[in-house]
Amino acid sequence: MKETQFLSKEYSQALKQGKFTWESPSNIALIKYWGKRENQIPENPSISFTLDVCKTITTLSFSKKNKNSNHFSFDLFFDGKPKEDFKPKIQTFFKRIESYLPFLNDYHFIIETSNSFPHSSGIASSASGMSALALCLVSIEKLLDPEMTNEYFTRKASFLARLGSGSACRSIEGDLVVWGEHDEIEGSSDLFGVKYSDQVHDNFKNFQDTILLVDKGEKQVSSSVGHNLMHGHPFAKKRFEQANTNLSKMVEILKSGNLDSFIEVVESEALSLHAMMMTSLPYFILMKPNTLEIINKIWKFRKETGFHVGFTLDAGANVHVLYPESESEKIYKFIKNELVAYCQNGQYICDKIGKGAKLLR
Ligand code: PMV
Repeated sequence: MKETQFLSKEYSQALKQGKFTWESPSNIALIKYWGKRENQIPENPSISFTLDVCKTITTLSFSKKNKNSNHFSFDLFFDGKPKEDFKPKIQTFFKRIESYLPFLNDYHFIIETSNSFPHSSGIASSASGMSALALCLVSIEKLLDPEMTNEYFTRKASFLARLGSGSACRSIEGDLVVWGEHDEIEGSSDLFGVKYSDQVHDNFKNFQDTILLVDKGEKQVSSSVGHNLMHGHPFAKKRFEQANTNLSKMVEILKSGNLDSFIEVVESEALSLHAMMMTSLPYFILMKPNTLEIINKIWKFRKETGFHVGFTLDAGANVHVLYPESESEKIYKFIKNELVAYCQNGQYICDKIGKGAKLLR
């Protein structure tokens, strides 16, 4: 599909007002996206687990404006309170998607949003937040154009979410989603995320992700600054090649169910992402001492017990501890006894692989 296929045709229906509520999850990348070209086109393909517990719920109400104006009109509430500082991000998002949703200027919108995970937990809400909003907007378009197919609906929601925050395009469906063209993955695209439909071994069913909140502060580096640091980065070319190779390996791993190889690729991806930040100019260390304590404890436990527990990291200090459901009893005990002590205020979230976004109302 090309970008132009997401331009809207003439709408067959008129609409005065209405309301939609969508619940959309966060996701955690196994093969990381870090570095992009213009218009949110990724430099390399990525694959993620869609999460289940960490999500955003967004209600979008819309009513036809009395007078046509050429500026966007919306109010924004977070946890029931007006949230002025989120508005510029939404404004930029609307600007980027305006040509794909020509009705944006015809309505006044009220956006009410909340997250299931604790406020300022250091967990990025851009993926769940932007995907939830994109889904509400495409739902409006489906009312205006009732012939829209379900497949087109899902693609367009992911396409628009990508323009809000790249990784948000991987939050529409579950349970594994690929974004970015890759030779071995049919249908993969730079424009939207696609559900990974090749063979997946039962070892990955219900895979667990316990998120250890090591540092709940504001992100030290925003992801847009981070992606920009890959322009002219001395290791950029090699990194993009590495991600492609790792995705090829992941296709085999998902098929075979080889958990040792899974851990090796996933941990190497997390550390490569952080290595890119340590070797850019300016450079950043986003891990905290407790991030390293946790990683070393995981490695020691794995060596001593042979259990298949590994970690991944986002562009921050929190640790996602990944493990199969079949080993979850022992591993969860280890997390509680030995890792939670390194979390800020002992906080962590028990999440697992999820099925994707849901229309609530
Ligand atoms: O979607 P963005 O622009 O916030 O970038 C997310 C980048 C990482 O979370 C670090 C990796 C990924 O693939 O999700």
